[in-house]
Amino acid sequence: CVDLGELRVIKKGRILKMEHKRSQWASNIGFILAAAGSAVGLGNIWKFPGKVAAGGGGAFLICYALIVLFVGFPVMLAELSIGRSTQKNVVGAFRRLNPRWSFAGGIGVLTLFVIMSYYSVVGGWVMKYIAVYLTGADFSAFGNDSSRFSAYFADFISRPAEPLLWGAAFLLLCIYVVVRGVSEGIERVSKFLMPGLFVLLTGIVVYAVTLDGAAEGLKYMLAVDPAKFNSGTVVAALGQAFFSLSVGMGIMVTYGSYVPRTENLAKSAGCICILDSLVALLSGLAIVPVVYITAGPEAMGMGGGFAFMALPEVFSRLPGGVFFGFAFFLLLFVAALTSAISILESCIAWLTEEFGFARLKATLLLVIPMSFLSAGYSLSQGAMDIKLPWFDFTNGVQYLPMNAVMEKFTDNLMIPLGALCFCLFVGWVWGTDNASKEIEASGHSMAWKRLWAFLVKFLAPAVIIVILYFTVGRGQGLS
Ligand code: TRP
Repeated sequence: CVDLGELRVIKKGRILKMEHKRSQWASNIGFILAAAGSAVGLGNIWKFPGKVAAGGGGAFLICYALIVLFVGFPVMLAELSIGRSTQKNVVGAFRRLNPRWSFAGGIGVLTLFVIMSYYSVVGGWVMKYIAVYLTGADFSAFGNDSSRFSAYFADFISRPAEPLLWGAAFLLLCIYVVVRGVSEGIERVSKFLMPGLFVLLTGIVVYAVTLDGAAEGLKYMLAVDPAKFNSGTVVAALGQAFFSLSVGMGIMVTYGSYVPRTENLAKSAGCICILDSLVALLSGLAIVPVVYITAGPEAMGMGGGFAFMALPEVFSRLPGGVFFGFAFFLLLFVAALTSAISILESCIAWLTEEFGFARLKATLLLVIPMSFLSAGYSLSQGAMDIKLPWFDFTNGVQYLPMNAVMEKFTDNLMIPLGALCFCLFVGWVWGTDNASKEIEASGHSMAWKRLWAFLVKFLAPAVIIVILYFTVGRGQGLS
């Protein structure tokens, strides 16, 4: 981002208004990398492989690809166009275009707030693993066979204090960066480190798919088994696609607001979707076959802990594995940190721009309630039995572990709801004509404008409503 400095409105020699001229991305590739850096995060590496495995392998992948293409991409483009047209944060953007729709921005901010509270806990786990590898990666307290890695992880996350401290450290680091506003530096650093993550991940994939017995695991991951295809697959794929693309919560409004009118928005949105999906697929290939070989198909349902249990196994077999492990978790940490900072930053932008709070005050106002949520997420992994009510129309009120409720709340309810608001707003309130004019402002005409308008007006909302019917109505969804 380059800051164009202050714009002063001077009348009769007096400064009437001092506004910050909005920052802009220095280059389009910078924008694409920054947006991809925000999109590529724990979701790709920590959530995706588990969901592929639990959601039916190939059936899930096909579903995921279709959803990215026909729902994720059009909604991302809709969000970017709102941002570039209004040059505002989410809530402000809606308020400018139609004040009655400010609530939709509010949905986005609330979603980000909850995501941030568990993101920082998982970010803490990543830091712990960096420390583990720095100190020689000794898992022998849990035996010598391959189950020692999952035993180690299970023991760690169910401890009361240690994960909390790591989570707090991660959150403090984010706060430190955000308060000082050095996102510039982070952005520049992530331009080097994100390609690094990519190269390392590719290396791990090559290794993982050439292990003895990997073919079986690959088959498990890629084969399309119609028996495994059900509404749960679709629900999980949609929640995951939106989470991973950072769509449905207004991030792309903010990012779009920094894009100059000369750039081709549609192409950029396409690149972001492709990069993000590629990293997710590579993580799946790096992790799923290995878990299959070492722990068998029964282990596939274990969801979130995947990266923390499967990869140490891979590293333990590699020559120089301790170094690989350290490098991998370090890069995962960078991916998580860049994402987390942009989540926190968006919440803070809302408080400072809409309520005029100073940055530090806004940060404190956010972080104090956030810490309680984080603590609940962390402790409910096993240290304490914290249950929260969760409602759906089929099962009524159920009491589920707090961590599950938090993930369900964002993935199954709030993100689809936010995305629905974006579609309905762009499709029916602001109008796809206005939006496509904004997208075409760069002079690149969109030949598939009418198809896009159809997707935003009809297909995407219909898919999202069906999904909400399954999550809220029938109590399905995998997270
Ligand atoms: N997309 C990120 C990931 O895959 C997570 C995420 C969700 C996010 N919402 C966000 C990141 C908003 C930045 C901003 O991990």
